[in-house]
Amino acid sequence: MTDVAVITGGASGFGRAIAEGCAAHGMNVVVLDLDGDRADAEASALAAAYGVEAFGLRVDVADGASVDVAAATVGIRFGKAHLVMSNVGVQLFASIDRATDDEWRWLLDVNVVGSARVARAFLPLLRRAERGRLAFTSSSSVLDPASRMSMYQASKFAVWGLAETLRVELAPEGIGVSVIFPSGMLSRHLETSEAAQPAHLRRPIAGDDDFAAMHESNPMMAQFLATPEEAAAGVVDAILGDRRYVVTHGEFLEALDTRERELRTAAIQAAGGNL
Ligand SMILES: NC(=O)c1ccc[n+]([C@@H]2O[C@H](COP(=O)([O-])OP(=O)(O)OC[C@H]3O[C@@H](n4cnc5c(N)ncnc54)[C@H](O)[C@@H]3O)[C@@H](O)[C@H]2O)c1
Repeated sequence: MTDVAVITGGASGFGRAIAEGCAAHGMNVVVLDLDGDRADAEASALAAAYGVEAFGLRVDVADGASVDVAAATVGIRFGKAHLVMSNVGVQLFASIDRATDDEWRWLLDVNVVGSARVARAFLPLLRRAERGRLAFTSSSSVLDPASRMSMYQASKFAVWGLAETLRVELAPEGIGVSVIFPSGMLSRHLETSEAAQPAHLRRPIAGDDDFAAMHESNPMMAQFLATPEEAAAGVVDAILGDRRYVVTHGEFLEALDTRERELRTAAIQAAGGNL
């Protein structure tokens, strides 16, 4: 039987490029997205271009029932899922004194609880595949953070934590878990994040000075822009190969070295300096 890939947020940007990568590997593809029309259209285009079976479905990862229906639909159509990628993530900029509790709750619900909902709903289908692979889209901004992105970066750290936990938890079942750290991509991310906001929270994704403050705090942030297709190159192979971490593009060695050095120093001090 042909392998099956399921990608949330698969109708646009990075998710669409991953869906195409899966189709190029000969996998049948399910495109899940809040934008159901676009999910349908992208799935049809993949089926035509790669000769695989593909379908799109409107799903809101903030709605558990919607995610459960999607998993049931994939189960009826294909019986199992070999690769599930939880890729949805919304963005909302603000300084810490302007971000409201409701904004925090919305963003964490979509990005973090949404990822957990997807993992929970699709796990039974991954268990039926021989070597199930679960992947999560985090962000390189957790490797080298910038200001005004506390809600987003906190959510992406949590997605990373979720992935690390599930990697340990699901290893005995032979299910591999990868976490992907894309850097800046030329996508519709700000536009689709705004479209996804619930009506009572609707506001521009960023205030007037948020981008300037972000760039000032971390000039590297916008230095390594890539197309989603460039960023996705090789990612499907890495997930299938059970790579724990995938950094798609960019330059983070100095930021990672600094963090590692400071963490090691703290751990050495905690151990009484005897490490
Ligand atoms: N664009 C960047 O610079 C960048 C950088 C690092 C990480 N990322 C991450 O990559 C992932 C994909 O982002 P992208 O840049 O391809 O954006 P995109 O806007 O092109 O695609 C995101 C898709 O997710 C869908 N979506 C939004 N809310 C949803 C919901 N509640 N339920 C289901 N679908 C929903 C949108 O309709 C859209 O089709 C996100 O997790 C994002 O945080 C993006």
